[in-house]
Amino acid sequence: METIALRNGVEMPLLGYGVLQMKEPRQCEKCVQAALESGYRMFDTAASYGNEEPVGRALKKYMDEGKVRREELFVITKLWIDDAREDSAGKAFETSLAKLGLDYIDLYLVHQPYGDYYGAWRAMEKLYEEGRIRALGVSNFSPERLVDLCMNSHIPPMVDQVELHPFYHQEQALHIMRELGVQPQAWAPLCEGLRNIFSNKVLEKIGKKYGRSVAQTALRWNIDRQVSVVTRSSIPEHMREDFDIWDFSLSDGDRKLISGLDLGYSEILDYGNPCIARMFLSKKGHSR
Ligand SMILES: NC(=O)c1ccc[n+]([C@@H]2O[C@H](COP(=O)([O-])OP(=O)(O)OC[C@H]3O[C@@H](n4cnc5c(N)ncnc54)[C@H](OP(=O)(O)O)[C@@H]3O)[C@@H](O)[C@H]2O)c1
Repeated sequence: METIALRNGVEMPLLGYGVLQMKEPRQCEKCVQAALESGYRMFDTAASYGNEEPVGRALKKYMDEGKVRREELFVITKLWIDDAREDSAGKAFETSLAKLGLDYIDLYLVHQPYGDYYGAWRAMEKLYEEGRIRALGVSNFSPERLVDLCMNSHIPPMVDQVELHPFYHQEQALHIMRELGVQPQAWAPLCEGLRNIFSNKVLEKIGKKYGRSVAQTALRWNIDRQVSVVTRSSIPEHMREDFDIWDFSLSDGDRKLISGLDLGYSEILDYGNPCIARMFLSKKGHSR
């Protein structure tokens, strides 16, 4: 497992396991257990996913069995919009911590660039200074929102988790993150399986050269550009396949071929569309 150093020196794995849409608790717990067995040590959940408890149970069981130590794990969770205020972010954090059964979080993210996230950020900075959070970050922040938060905070974000995959490269956003010292992290690195990604001819052909699948090629492409990724599968065989990407790198020529796949826009979530903001603002986090 390769790691990358965040601005504060904390080492973050370049590959993690995400639990979006895993609503059934026993199934979620089983998947996290299988991901641990496959080698994953970074886990990405959120208050709004409603599954911090089963994630925490699976991690605890694995630790209790002596198979992993807490300091070997890297746990990410996120603050939802309905708690993105100075007077409730701290309480939402404690709720996440209790649900996960942990006494600190490795990376705590503002999930969406909506609500009073400046107030929330001040509360998160306090938790960071108290040692309850090892790294602070945001998710789905566009470059201009990221610049503004970086310029108007005491502790600027260390990570921005955004949509990044072979059909949506966001090179300009990555350039700005790097200028700001913000580590990019990819969500949906397999484009959620959309656009027939797993039978894409360009990715298939490149993968074949290295004896790798489309999924492995897509994940390695982001990692080769020093983007940390969180991916999801409910099939142990896929989990093992997705984790087995540490002994190859794509050539410049192959990266150039993947450049041709960039649509330049997201087909999953268009943050420029006000309906998306309305949809997220109507959703609940812990208070669901
Ligand atoms: N911050 C945010 O706003 C945000 C938004 C979206 C996602 N996320 C995070 O990012 C994580 C990953 O994104 P995602 O879950 O949206 O999608 P993703 O990882 O891009 O794709 C998941 C899909 O890929 C399939 N898959 C995985 N490995 C495969 C393989 N080797 N061969 C064939 N199919 C494979 C899975 O199906 P199988 O189960 O059949 O393998 C699943 O349908 C999430 O779980 C979540 O933690 C964050």
